[in-house]
Amino acid sequence: MEARNLTFRILRYNPETPDVKPYLQDFQLVEEPGMTLFIVLNKLREEQDPSLRFDFVCRASICGSCGMLINGKPNLACKTLTKTLPDVTTLMPLPVFKLLGDLSVDTGVWFRDVSLRTEAWIHTDEVFQPDVPEGKMDNELAQKIYEAERCIECGCCIGGCATANIKPNFIGAAGVNRVARFMMDPRDKRTEQEYFEVVGSEDGVFGCVGLMACDDNCPVGIPLRSQLAYVRRQMALAGWHMSRNKK
Ligand code: SF4
Ligand code: SF4
Ligand code: FES
Repeated sequence: MEARNLTFRILRYNPETPDVKPYLQDFQLVEEPGMTLFIVLNKLREEQDPSLRFDFVCRASICGSCGMLINGKPNLACKTLTKTLPDVTTLMPLPVFKLLGDLSVDTGVWFRDVSLRTEAWIHTDEVFQPDVPEGKMDNELAQKIYEAERCIECGCCIGGCATANIKPNFIGAAGVNRVARFMMDPRDKRTEQEYFEVVGSEDGVFGCVGLMACDDNCPVGIPLRSQLAYVRRQMALAGWHMSRNKK
């Protein structure tokens, strides 16, 4: 079978030259067996335009840096094979995050801010005792925590989220997933009320409209639907307890 001629329509923008408005530029490339968008973009930069900006580190769906809109859908470029794409593919940077240039966005500032706002660390008064043997955790619970820990902070769930696109402070499914991770962990001693203050608002779990684009778009398959439902349930209960205590 003859190799396909592929067209990549890529958003170009350089914040250092703001007078030049963002535009789409077409690049052509002959498809090769086993070609991924990682290979495509590197070839384009090496052979056609050294100024093309995009991010990759691991090439193996681990680092989360290559999230972008591929024909309008957020996904990792390194795990996307060209054989799954049509002859013409549009590549855009993920929205919501600060655009650094072309396909490169800054997800780090966003995720750091959400980590600080959700206080994504174990809250306990226990003092670490290096000589005491480690406590055991129930295997099933450890698996659940591990599942939530698998987030690679690629931003795909945020880029495709209607709420995150219009509300800059919304913590999104990735933020809720992180909160779920600590709520499940028995070592975290935060009370329902303390969690409610962190996530029981329109910027937290109650801002979610529940159409589940995040669940469809997570490239590592974190069960975001269940994580959102779990936190929403806990927060509804916390709200109910708080209103009863006020009476
Ligand atoms: S279900 Fe909620 S968090 Fe997920 S994409 Fe929709 S609004 Fe965003
Ligand atoms: S939850 Fe999934 S889609 Fe969202 S940032 Fe983490 S890995 Fe990416
Ligand atoms: S390059 Fe690391 S996830 Fe794609």
